[in-house]
Amino acid sequence: FRSLETADLAGKRALVRVDLNVPMADGKVTDDTRLRAVLPTIRFLSTRGAKVVLLAHFDRPKGKRVPEMSLKPVVGPLSALLEQPVAFADDCIGGEAAAVVNGLENGGVALLENIRYHAGEEKNDPAFAAELAKLGDLYVNDAFSAAHRAHASTEGLARLLPAYPGLSMQRELEMLDAALGNPVKPVLGIVGGAKVSTKLDLLNNLVEKLDRLAIGGGMANTFLAAQGHPVGSSLCEHDLGDTAREIIAKAAQAGCELLLPVDVVVAAEVKPNTATRVLALDEVKDGDLILDAGPKTVERLLTAMDDSKTFIWNGPLGVFEVPPFDAATVAAAKKAGELAQAGKLVAVAGGGDTVAALNHAGVAGEMTFVSTAGGAFLEWMEGKVLPGVAALEV
Ligand code: 3PG
Repeated sequence: FRSLETADLAGKRALVRVDLNVPMADGKVTDDTRLRAVLPTIRFLSTRGAKVVLLAHFDRPKGKRVPEMSLKPVVGPLSALLEQPVAFADDCIGGEAAAVVNGLENGGVALLENIRYHAGEEKNDPAFAAELAKLGDLYVNDAFSAAHRAHASTEGLARLLPAYPGLSMQRELEMLDAALGNPVKPVLGIVGGAKVSTKLDLLNNLVEKLDRLAIGGGMANTFLAAQGHPVGSSLCEHDLGDTAREIIAKAAQAGCELLLPVDVVVAAEVKPNTATRVLALDEVKDGDLILDAGPKTVERLLTAMDDSKTFIWNGPLGVFEVPPFDAATVAAAKKAGELAQAGKLVAVAGGGDTVAALNHAGVAGEMTFVSTAGGAFLEWMEGKVLPGVAALEV
C-alpha cells in the first residue's frame, strides 16, 4: 500500500471514499459510530492542506434519486464532530459537484450526494469512475466496511488516481491481520448467530485457521442435531446435517478443536424474563426452545479464552436481545474485555449483531478492536479477497 504520510497533499483535491451508511430515523442520525470512524483521516488530510472531497453511499437507491436516501442529513452531525463546516453538493458528478469542489479552500471539506443515485456506481462503470476522477488529484479509501463491493468509488477509482488507504482502513487491516492473518497463537474463535447456511464459508475457512472454534446461537442446534441430539422445537436447519458433519470432520483433520454446547438453556417461548431451565443435551424435549448456551458451556468457553492469546468473534451465543437469554453472550463479552484490558488477549470482534451484543454487555470499548463493518468483516473472515482492498495494493 502507498502511505498517506508520504503523499504530497497541500492544495491537492483528495477524493475520499467513506462509509456514511449510518442508522437514521426520521432524517436524523441515530448512531454516529461510522461518522467518528472517518474523522482521523479527514483531519489528517485537512491539516495538511488538502481539499477533502467525501464520496459515500447511503442505503440502496439502485441508481435513482430517492429523496429519503439523501446524504444531506449527515452534513450537520459530521460538521459538528469535525468542528468545521462541510459543504454539500447535490450531485456527485457534473457541474454542481465541480463547482462545490472548486469552491473549497485548502483544508476545506465537502460531501457529495449519495453516489448510488447513479447506476454507474454499482456497475463499476469506467465512464462513471472517470467522471468522479475528474474531481480529484488523489484517491483515499477509508471505507473498509464497503470494501467487499467492487463499485466505481471503492474499486474503479483506485485504478484511475494514485490510491491510498485512509487511517481507519489502515488500522482495520492491521487489526484483522493480527487476528487472523498473522495471529499470536493459540487462536480461539466464536461463531454464533441464527443459521449455519449463512456462515458456511466462514466456518470452512475458520476451522483451517483456528486452534479452537466455539459454535453458538441457533446454528449450534444444527450441529447438535447432526450429532443425534434432540433439539425440541428449536431453530435448526435439519437439512444441513451432512454439511455440519463435514465441518466437524474437517475441523478434526485440521487440528481445530470444536467447542459445541454441552448444556443449554431452554424455555417454552421467547419472552423477556420467562421461566427457563438448564438442560443436559439429551434432556431436550419436544416444545423446548434452546435459546442460550448453558453454564457448563460458558465455563468451558471462558477457560478456553484464558488459554488463548488471540480471539475473534462473530455472532452472539444466544437470543441476547431478550434477557435472560443474553447470559452466555454477556459472560463471554465481559471475559474477553477483561483479558484484552489486562493485555492477555488480542480480542477482535465484528458484524452488526456482534457489535450490538458488545454494546449490550457494555464492553465494546474494552475489546482490542471492534470492526464497524458488517458484510465486509464476514467476507474477510471467509478468507475472500476484498476488491476495495485489493485495488489499493501497488
Ligand atoms: C454496510 O453498511 O455494511 C456497508 O455500507 C455496505 O452497504 P451495502 O451492503 O448496501 O453495500
